[in-house]
Amino acid sequence: MYIFKAAVVGAGTMGGEIAQVITFSGLPVVLKDIDQKMLDAGMAKARSIYQNRVDKGKMSASDMESKLDLITPTLTYDEFEDVDIVIEAVPEKMGIKQAVLKELEGVCPEQTIFASNTSALSISEMGAATGKPHKMIGMHFFNPASVMKLVEIIPGLDTDQETIDDVVMFAESLRKLPVVVQECPGFLVNRLLMPYLNEATKALGEGAATATNIDQAIVEWGMPMGPFTLMDMLGLDVCAHVGEHLYSEYGERMSPAPLFTKLVEAGRLGQKSGAGFYDYPGGESEAVKEMIDALQTSGEVSTGTTFSVERLMYPLINEAALCVQENIASLSDIDMSMVAGTGMTYGGERVGPLVIADKIGLDTVLQGLQELEKELGFRFRPARPLKLRVQAGHLGEKTGKGFHEHA
Ligand code: 3HC
Repeated sequence: MYIFKAAVVGAGTMGGEIAQVITFSGLPVVLKDIDQKMLDAGMAKARSIYQNRVDKGKMSASDMESKLDLITPTLTYDEFEDVDIVIEAVPEKMGIKQAVLKELEGVCPEQTIFASNTSALSISEMGAATGKPHKMIGMHFFNPASVMKLVEIIPGLDTDQETIDDVVMFAESLRKLPVVVQECPGFLVNRLLMPYLNEATKALGEGAATATNIDQAIVEWGMPMGPFTLMDMLGLDVCAHVGEHLYSEYGERMSPAPLFTKLVEAGRLGQKSGAGFYDYPGGESEAVKEMIDALQTSGEVSTGTTFSVERLMYPLINEAALCVQENIASLSDIDMSMVAGTGMTYGGERVGPLVIADKIGLDTVLQGLQELEKELGFRFRPARPLKLRVQAGHLGEKTGKGFHEHA
């Protein structure tokens, strides 16, 4: 089925970005919310992305206006009778998502695909709330959606092949890189990112290094931005939703850092609230330093631990190895997703975690994880696919075989 008209439900920043992405490829989109303020914010976001292109001489002002004219902002479902796909981007609460999907069922044609931009919640559970679970699918964009190439496509248990094929083709028509990912909490990229972001926050809370030092070290290592800059950009409330869900599903190895919880409780939600790990403007924050001191004094966090880039990156690689074991995606898709979804690089090359492990040497990564496990606990316990490869002598580039084969 070709997609001639799309709808996005839930405006705001993400909805506005997705509407921009869709109209950029020339398709009309209905942007729906229940709140005029959110609708205005979504339209403003789409306009600002186009305006940026106009300012850089990449598009004319009249082209910008024609693209924006493709967006129909609305508070009603009046325009939904001929949409081919609806992407929901409403708040990350299963109850809200299911209620919206029920409403959509009443107003959309039978063949309309229901896609969810959820960061972590179950697509199968959403599908079960509709009368057509075969048409329910995850379509997960990455922030900033206008820039990041990856779109994770997540079929639920009952999603049919035609829906998967249609959504893959749709994502390609938006000039994105679709990767089909088996359903699991956090899907692929957020599942890999969360242990890394958590570990950064644990190291910061334990006084192992400052936020600036950690961010700088990670950028030098090859990520486009450090973990605190990233969380402040994403919004700590968004990270909290993902984090809580992954903790409830995977248990202790995803336990949220106490400092993270304190920041959210204090309303420090990142750039959008003027304060997160950093102050905006201002950088390093006295208030955060006081929170760290208080956590250490009360004994809620350990002290005297050390920071190393490996402490953050090895859990991410380890989680990628667990995804190999669970067949969440092919090895090359796991790597490609991290490159296209997070801009990951290593040694100046755009490569993902499994290739990076092969370059470092799987024996080195395994030994590093074992040492971290001894020092910091079982969240660093090495994944079986990593251990097995080392036992078999598949150590990565140096032996010609690791996660991948090397010529
Ligand atoms: N919104 C829209 N566009 C933005 C932007 C923003 N916040 N920030 C930058 N851009 C645009 C710029 O305008 C520029 O566009 P152009 O190529 O047309 O000129 C382009 O992005 C590159 O920007 P810059 O050269 O100014 O800056 P950088 O080179 O530093 O790139 C970045 C910015 C693309 C955001 C880069 O730092 C990056 O890739 N960061 C990692 C982001 C990431 O990991 N995202 C995934 C997070 S996980 C997620 O979203 C899942 C969710 O469920 C939680």
